[in-house]
Amino acid sequence: MDLRWMGHSAFELITEENLKILIDPFISNNPSCSVPVEEIEADLICITHGHADHFGDALEIANRTGALVIANHEISIFFSRQGFETQGMNIGGSSHFHNIKITMVDAIHSADIDFMEEITPGGKACGFIFELENGRKIYHAGDTSLFGDLKLVVGDFYKPDVALIPIGDRYTMGLKDASTAVKWISPQIVIPMHYNTFPVIEQDPEDFMDLVKNKIPNVEVIILNPGDTYTE
Ligand code: NI
Ligand code: MN
Repeated sequence: MDLRWMGHSAFELITEENLKILIDPFISNNPSCSVPVEEIEADLICITHGHADHFGDALEIANRTGALVIANHEISIFFSRQGFETQGMNIGGSSHFHNIKITMVDAIHSADIDFMEEITPGGKACGFIFELENGRKIYHAGDTSLFGDLKLVVGDFYKPDVALIPIGDRYTMGLKDASTAVKWISPQIVIPMHYNTFPVIEQDPEDFMDLVKNKIPNVEVIILNPGDTYTE
């Protein structure tokens, strides 16, 4: 699989069977993303919550590509009322897309849709676990604080192989709590996200790497630059 980071929490996951999954497609207003939104293709768009820096260009991309939108029940209704193909889910549930299993897991974060004229209730913020054709599990944490079920549910039960974890602080975990989240989840590989997009979430990912190395040395931290692809 190829996992391209487009800055912030936006990732493009291309699976062995060439399915294109976009996660939190914050593209055109994302200062760290240099890809023009018109060039983004997708079979599936997964949205962790309704904040503008995650919902991003989902409407435009879904409209142009016909991609199926996977999100919580409330955001799914928002899309279906505008005529889009969508699959609503909720925390703890799974959905299948070709040979990919997608599970929605909890995240501790607010989740209203914040880019409309009036703030609109958007259900619950979530993370996703993608179980690929080869059994590898990729966990996208969305925006979240540190919470106990990262250990009990995400780590001990789902056992993801690759974890995408926010480290920017202010709106999510910062370096210290994110490195503890990595210890609890205990993946093989961790990729930090949701940092350096804006001044208020500036962080040095090398400091995060050092903290993880101290707490759980067998986890490999991969620091991507926006536009970089991690391949396995
Ligand atoms: Ni948010
Ligand atoms: Mn965010």
